[in-house]
Amino acid sequence: MRQTSQLLLLLFLACILLLPIQAPAADKLQKGQNLTDSGGDTLVSAGGSFTLGFFSPGVSTKRYVGIWFSVSNDTVYWVANRDQPLVDKSGMLVFNDAATLVLLDGARRTVWSSDFAGGTSASAAQLLDSGNLVVRNGSSVAYLWQSFDYPSDTLLPSMKLGKNLWTGTEWQLTSWRSADDPSPGEYRRTLETKGLPELVLWRGNVKTHRSGPYNGLYFNGVPEASTYMNMYPLHVTGLTARPTEITYGYTAVPGAPLTRVVVNHTGVAERLVWNADTGAWISFFSRGARDVTCDAYGKCGAFGLCDPEAALSGFCGCLPGFRPASTSAWQMKQYVGGCQRDAVLECRAGKTTDRFKVVSGVKLPDTQNATVDIDVATLEECEARCYANCSCLAYSAADIRGGGNRSGCVLWTDAIVDLRLIDSKQDLYLRLSKSEFGGPSVSVFPTWIIIGVSVALIIILVLLAFWFSTSIGQLILWLLEGHAVCLCIIRKATGNFSEENIIGRGGFSDVYMGRLFGREFAVKRLIRVRLTDKGKQDFKREVKMMSTLTHVNLAKLLYHCREGNEWILVYEYMENKSLNRYIFAEQNEDRSSLNWAQRLEIIHGIAVGVEYLHGMGFVHRDLKPGNILLSDTWKSKIADFTTAKLFIEEETDPTVVLTPGYVAPEYLSEGTLTIKCDVYSFGVVLLEIVTGTKRTGMPTLLVHAWELWNRRDIEGLLDQAVGEPGELLSALARCIHIALLCVQNPHQSPEEDRPSMSQVVAMLTSTNSQLRMPSKPTANRGAGPSVQLISDDTPGPSTISRSASPAANAVYDS
Ligand SMILES: *[C@@H]1O[C@H](CO)[C@@H](O)[C@H](O)[C@H]1NC(C)=O
Ligand SMILES: *[C@@H]1O[C@H](CO)[C@@H](O)[C@H](O)[C@H]1NC(C)=O
Ligand SMILES: *[C@@H]1O[C@H](CO)[C@@H](O)[C@H](O)[C@H]1NC(C)=O
Ligand SMILES: *[C@@H]1O[C@H](CO)[C@@H](O)[C@H](O)[C@H]1NC(C)=O
Ligand SMILES: *[C@@H]1O[C@H](CO)[C@@H](O)[C@H](O)[C@H]1NC(C)=O
Ligand SMILES: *[C@@H]1O[C@H](CO)[C@@H](O)[C@H](O)[C@H]1NC(C)=O
Ligand SMILES: *[C@@H]1O[C@H](CO)[C@@H](O)[C@H](O)[C@H]1NC(C)=O
Repeated sequence: MRQTSQLLLLLFLACILLLPIQAPAADKLQKGQNLTDSGGDTLVSAGGSFTLGFFSPGVSTKRYVGIWFSVSNDTVYWVANRDQPLVDKSGMLVFNDAATLVLLDGARRTVWSSDFAGGTSASAAQLLDSGNLVVRNGSSVAYLWQSFDYPSDTLLPSMKLGKNLWTGTEWQLTSWRSADDPSPGEYRRTLETKGLPELVLWRGNVKTHRSGPYNGLYFNGVPEASTYMNMYPLHVTGLTARPTEITYGYTAVPGAPLTRVVVNHTGVAERLVWNADTGAWISFFSRGARDVTCDAYGKCGAFGLCDPEAALSGFCGCLPGFRPASTSAWQMKQYVGGCQRDAVLECRAGKTTDRFKVVSGVKLPDTQNATVDIDVATLEECEARCYANCSCLAYSAADIRGGGNRSGCVLWTDAIVDLRLIDSKQDLYLRLSKSEFGGPSVSVFPTWIIIGVSVALIIILVLLAFWFSTSIGQLILWLLEGHAVCLCIIRKATGNFSEENIIGRGGFSDVYMGRLFGREFAVKRLIRVRLTDKGKQDFKREVKMMSTLTHVNLAKLLYHCREGNEWILVYEYMENKSLNRYIFAEQNEDRSSLNWAQRLEIIHGIAVGVEYLHGMGFVHRDLKPGNILLSDTWKSKIADFTTAKLFIEEETDPTVVLTPGYVAPEYLSEGTLTIKCDVYSFGVVLLEIVTGTKRTGMPTLLVHAWELWNRRDIEGLLDQAVGEPGELLSALARCIHIALLCVQNPHQSPEEDRPSMSQVVAMLTSTNSQLRMPSKPTANRGAGPSVQLISDDTPGPSTISRSASPAANAVYDS
């Protein structure tokens, strides 16, 4: 008796356990079949990734039919009845005999339908592994109807945005009204087809953000897309002649994690990628109108230039050759009035004396009214076209795929709107009056002393140049080291600040290559208006201090010059320019030109240099690969120590000013500057050197490194392009360990404080001392409420000049 009941129990359990296997959720609805809400029926795609069923969003009790990611059931990417919710659970989705999908309410009235009668040839509605709900035409691969043609707020791989020019069909994303209401909200994301194709975020009928034009590789204002395009390649049609369709979409390579692009109801467009390990979506890209720096459309008005690192000037400035249209409005931080030309253009009937100035590293302005000719083969031809047409104000290449051979031509004839600096390879060539190209005007208020000294020095120089050998010149240069020199010497060395000699450009300075008596210099010409008043007073004292700091791992300040409007610092010239050129290089050969042993040496050098600075009572404040110079023997030399101060009012000034990504979180949230902030930046730089990944290109770099390190997957972290680490693997593992200690957030608990720089040097030097376990770094994705970020003067490659000389492509991030 007991045995029988046990047997029955077992059978019963077996039935329960086997039930789901016996009746797996189908992915198809055949004609006449239905799904009911009360029955909790769903369709699940064959691979299991996507589920279709009834749901209620957020706190709402209304019922909708939607499709979501099976792993994340609150992520609904498509809603059938967005505007027609059901009020209770009596709804039913039927694939009826006419092969139309219809949603019926409790009274069996049609609430929503797929508006397409497939007729007799249609066999079934099926949820595919791509997430697409389709009605097939018999066994043919063509679809009679598909949900991908009716996007909600989400773009999945293989979907598209844009226009079919034959049929007029348009595909766009529309945000939900709120988290609890999937009906179409205020924000839309469309592919604009006038001018060059680009993605635009709209609020109603007002543009709020542009992605920048498609440049053959990616949308020009989203350069970070190039970092994940190997996983999610873009496809954009419509750049070819007479297209029938202008669309944008992307695919996912096999094995790539789940991803989606979504426009949420707060007007943020974002690409998210599913992290199966943590069970969470990671943000790879996020832009919206609410961005505090430069993302809001047309923020700085016509002919304005937005610089995301220029927090002090409200991010807005004018293009070269332009000034604010209304100074009083700009003082009140009202920038939309834009800028006006300093000097009128001189062009009549094709005869002109105007010239073009390059504005490097930009998101190209709105091309809505621009003239685009994709068949123009070279940039020279594009320039010639613009030159010959007096209404042409600027030009640019449309397609940058050819590397140095840029092709296609965009000509702007009305206002330049929504231009910003960005880490891209695109340049804008701006038409300016020839008067903008003269050398800078001489000092406005020269005292007789300055004149006297300058004249004397000019005479000496001229004499030297003519009558003495270069070795005597070099001797004089050596004697002058650490001293103020005459502007005339610097003009001579830089060819009167010739454009050709520009090797780096930043928000706060231009850097020129100078040459005198066979010796080379890096001449940093500060942009005076960006200096704080206190900085101006401190200039002398600061440079004096800088020239007393001598260390093999610091770039040496040789001379300075302060005459009239010119504020100039002269450093020793570094043959190999800056570290970022190698570790973030696009060409694998450039990356591998710094091998693992050299990289370890460089890391050690940076640590020793920072330790020295700290010992001398200085905080660097802006440690980043662009500020690490490399000598001809690949020794690391830290540059730009203390210059940051010239631009900063107070140590605790909340509007201080550093490069995003390298700034310690406590500095962001509280503005407390300590030497531990440098330790944090050092940790970030160290991780960048070993991974070859820019922190700003991958906000999750620290957490990612921590996770891989914890899994002992060191090789997964190392930059593949550098080659096999071989026996250096353990040294690199130790380095990463130290970096993770450096980027800890001490606020989590005091014992997780970061090591001091001397401890770091000790840990790097000894190979077997015990290290403590690093805690998980906190994600630090931007400025806190009171702190704004800005780089002092070297926004890295974002503003590299690209003039003709061979060295010019190089970043010399002074
Ligand atoms: C829905 O499907 C079930 C069986 O799958 C069937 O019994 C029922 O009659 C169908 N209801 C309608 C209204 O078609
Ligand atoms: C979603 O998944 C969670 C956890 O797996 C589960 O608790 C919840 O009931 C699910 N919600 C729906 C609507 O299926
Ligand atoms: C469905 O397929 C049949 C045969 O393959 C074809 O003749 C018919 O035109 C197709 N219908 C649609 C609407 O594409
Ligand atoms: C919209 O997206 C942004 C960026 O991820 C996020 O910060 C914000 O919380 C989102 N808003 C809502 C309501 O989901
Ligand atoms: C393009 O031209 C239209 C009509 O003249 C104008 O309203 C609009 O502001 C222009 N757009 C840009 C970006 O210049
Ligand atoms: C100059 O360019 C504008 C805009 O592309 C065009 O409308 C105009 O015809 C051109 N003028 C000449 C003389 O080519
Ligand atoms: C530029 O074009 C020339 C000639 O077509 C070609 O040899 C060269 O490789 C191209 N350069 C790049 C960087 O693509």
